[in-house]
Amino acid sequence: MATAIAIDGPAGAGKSTIAKKIAERLNFIYVDTGAMYRAMGLYFHRLGIRPEDEEAISRLAGQAEVSLSYENGMQQVYLNGENVTALLRTEEAGNMASAVSVYPEVRRILVRQQQKLAATQDVVMDGRDIGTVVLPRAQVKIFLTASVKVRADRRCADLRQKGLPFERENVEKDIEERDYRDTHRAESPLRQAEDAVLVDTSDMTIDQVAERVIELYREREKTERGEA
Ligand code: DC
Repeated sequence: MATAIAIDGPAGAGKSTIAKKIAERLNFIYVDTGAMYRAMGLYFHRLGIRPEDEEAISRLAGQAEVSLSYENGMQQVYLNGENVTALLRTEEAGNMASAVSVYPEVRRILVRQQQKLAATQDVVMDGRDIGTVVLPRAQVKIFLTASVKVRADRRCADLRQKGLPFERENVEKDIEERDYRDTHRAESPLRQAEDAVLVDTSDMTIDQVAERVIELYREREKTERGEA
C-alpha cells in the first residue's frame, strides 16, 4: 500500500518548502494541492468569471483539466494542456484560488484527482484538507502553523526574491483574509485533524521542521512494524 504524509496549515506556514524537502529525502512524490486550486482560479479569471458566480464556476469546473507532471523532480502544473506553473505563485492567483476553492464542485473534482495520485505512489501532499478529507488514512499528519507576522515576513522575502512588487501591509492583510476564508468556509474548512501533530514553525528553521516530520514518520514506521 502506498504511504502518505499529509501536511495542512494556513498560507505561509512553510508547507510547500517543508513538503518538498521531505519528499526529496524520502524519495516520495510531492503533491502541491494549492497549485491545483490556483490553476482552477486562473481558468476562471481568464474566462472573466467573477469568483462570486458559483453557478457558472460549478457548471464549468469540469472543463478545466488540471494535471500534474514531474520534470527533474519539479512539479509542473498543466491547465488544459498548457504549462501554467510560472503563473501560479502570484498573490492574485492565491486569492483567486482561495475564492474558487469554497465551491463543493471545484473541491469534488480536485479531491478525486488527489486521491487517485496518492493511491498508487508514496506522496507528501500539502494543502488545507489533506489530513481531514483527502487522505484521512494518511500514515503521518502534520498541521503546520506560524504567527501571522512571521508568515507575512516570509511571504515578503519570497516576493522580494522573485522581484515581484508588494506592500507589506497588504501582504499581511491578504494573509488574514485568506485565513478567515479558509477556516470559515462551509466545505472542508481548514482545521487540524484530530490525529495530526501540531508544529508551530515561527521559531524553527526549515531543517528543524523537516527533521521533526521525518522523525514522526520513522516513529510511525516502527509502530507499524510492531517495534515500538
Ligand atoms: O497553499 P496555497 O496558498 O497555494 O493555496 C491557495 C488556496 O487554495 C488557499 O487559499 C486555499 C485553497 N486550497 C484549498 O482550499 N485546499 C487545498 N487542499 C489547497 C489549497
